[in-house]
Amino acid sequence: MISEDFFKYNIGIIGAGHIGQALALKLRDIGFPTDNLKLSYNGSIFTFSDLYDNELVDNIADNSKIVDTSDIIIVSVPPQMFKKLGEFNLDDSTTVISFMAGVKTSDIKKQTGSSNVVRVIPTGPDTIRDSSAIAGVYNSCDIADCMFDLLGFDTFNVECEDDLNYMIIAGCLPAVFAKVDYDENIDDIKKFSENFPLFMDVAKKANDLVPSEGRDEFIKNTATKGGVTEAIIEALDGGMSLFDALNAGLDRNIELSKLE
Ligand SMILES: NC(=O)c1ccc[n+]([C@@H]2O[C@H](COP(=O)([O-])OP(=O)(O)OC[C@H]3O[C@@H](n4cnc5c(N)ncnc54)[C@H](OP(=O)(O)O)[C@@H]3O)[C@@H](O)[C@H]2O)c1
Repeated sequence: MISEDFFKYNIGIIGAGHIGQALALKLRDIGFPTDNLKLSYNGSIFTFSDLYDNELVDNIADNSKIVDTSDIIIVSVPPQMFKKLGEFNLDDSTTVISFMAGVKTSDIKKQTGSSNVVRVIPTGPDTIRDSSAIAGVYNSCDIADCMFDLLGFDTFNVECEDDLNYMIIAGCLPAVFAKVDYDENIDDIKKFSENFPLFMDVAKKANDLVPSEGRDEFIKNTATKGGVTEAIIEALDGGMSLFDALNAGLDRNIELSKLE
């Protein structure tokens, strides 16, 4: 698919937080027509203020409008909020691209009604903004591949959905390496990679994404409240080794996948 075709679609982003707004801004930067872009949020005045600062207020829409009018729906709410969105009643003509950690494809298909579901787990919003994101992807389709390409994602397609769990941990690594040193923890990284060898490559790349300044803000933007990065950072703050902290992240991911 060429970008001209992609730019004709209507995109709705449900969840205009760190990831949702980074995607909207990046799409706008690459020339995606803003008239074709809608975003929703949950009423936070801080989010409204960010949307205002980012000149995205005219793009705010409610979830039902997004569901009714979008060809591509990006779901970027916290995993624990997904069930609360209710049934979407879509068919396969709508592509659903989920950025949520933890929520499985089968649950997304069931709740949205579309079987055209792609899951993607990128490194944080700052890396989306500067086109350096590394992203684990499960399932693919032309539309999603084109979007990831335009956004400059360095994608790692996994064949088995369970492997995405490791990519979810990998997506947290730039924030983790903003806190603990990559070289000093190489043995823990090797040990963690035993079940998913690709993790070593991704970890090395993730270390290159750590900013030299503003690390606390970078960690804050990456750590979704109640999410996997937050679980890893809290484990490190509690004195755990990197290996144990990464496993705490895997456990949190499993908890999120079971939330009703
Ligand atoms: N941050 C990362 O680096 C990262 C990396 C990979 C994957 N992810 C995944 O990406 C998703 C978003 O993460 P984030 O860090 O962007 O979270 P976030 O900053 O907390 O943003 C979540 C957004 O969802 C909105 N929301 C909540 N309930 C909603 C509803 N019923 N309808 C519409 N919008 C609703 C919230 O609205 P309010 O602002 O009004 O509360 C908020 O704007 C998560 O599922 C996470 O697992 C994040």
